[in-house]
Amino acid sequence: MVLSDKVAIVTGGGMGIGEAIARKFASEGAKIVIGDVNPQAAEKIIEDLRKMNCQGLAVAVDVSQKEDVDRLADETLKAFGKIDILINNAGITQLPKSILDLDIEAWQKVTDIDYKGTYLCSRRVGKEMVQQKSGVVINIASIMGLISAPLVAYGPAKSAVIMLTKILATEWGRFNVRVNAIAPGYTLTPLMRGMIARGERDPKSILERTPMGKMVEPEDIANAALFLASDQAKCITGITLPIDAGMSADGAWSVFGGYRR
Ligand SMILES: NC(=O)c1ccc[n+]([C@@H]2O[C@H](COP(=O)([O-])OP(=O)(O)OC[C@H]3O[C@@H](n4cnc5c(N)ncnc54)[C@H](O)[C@@H]3O)[C@@H](O)[C@H]2O)c1
Repeated sequence: MVLSDKVAIVTGGGMGIGEAIARKFASEGAKIVIGDVNPQAAEKIIEDLRKMNCQGLAVAVDVSQKEDVDRLADETLKAFGKIDILINNAGITQLPKSILDLDIEAWQKVTDIDYKGTYLCSRRVGKEMVQQKSGVVINIASIMGLISAPLVAYGPAKSAVIMLTKILATEWGRFNVRVNAIAPGYTLTPLMRGMIARGERDPKSILERTPMGKMVEPEDIANAALFLASDQAKCITGITLPIDAGMSADGAWSVFGGYRR
């Protein structure tokens, strides 16, 4: 198994992409700690994993709160003695809005969870990894941090995550700590299915604007995370890997009549 005896923290692992990563890593032998603001959801996944003979722990955490993040690291160390992998996945999105209409509180909340949360977790867990001279951090960013959309809180927060990835990869390279990001495109999680059901995202326009004409599955993200966490990626650090069925490759094709030639 690729991750035998590794200890992995997955923030926001109670559902969606984080859940898929937690299950995939557990199936490859990792001990899993889920830090989630929804402790019931986290506990349910951990119970499932225990049935697969995986050791795990659920911790109630709001990643935007330093005390919570410190407790997440402390409880992981107490239970398992080390932290090998950190998946900074917890995140929320926003409704598409003009900067003139989005209130500052909504902007602050997205920024605090999506960017500050990644910063706080990396800072606390990175301290352990630098000391032990090994570790892998994977930040779940978004293609909305690479291309522009009317997401004035979410987009810049994810761009900040992508830049933080490069900075930490550079700073911690000498300590054998690798830091990479994954930029998912539209991924069929409960969050996305809910937005589609409420009419907040239009699947037709998403698919028309996606070169491969399909959405991403949480499993696609988990497979890439497994590769980046494994020794097969031992020389890969500082990158952002889009997993988006080609969406971020398309800049201006609609100006030239779209994909069909
Ligand atoms: N689904 C997509 O299409 C998509 C696309 C690009 C990027 N992403 C990113 O992937 C990550 C996961 O998204 P998802 O679609 O699986 O979301 P989701 O809503 O399905 O799951 C998010 C999980 O994070 C937890 N969470 C939320 N706020 C938290 C906080 N403050 N502290 C700790 N946990 C918290 C939730 O309880 C939940 O378990 C996010 O960072 C998101 O921005 C998702």
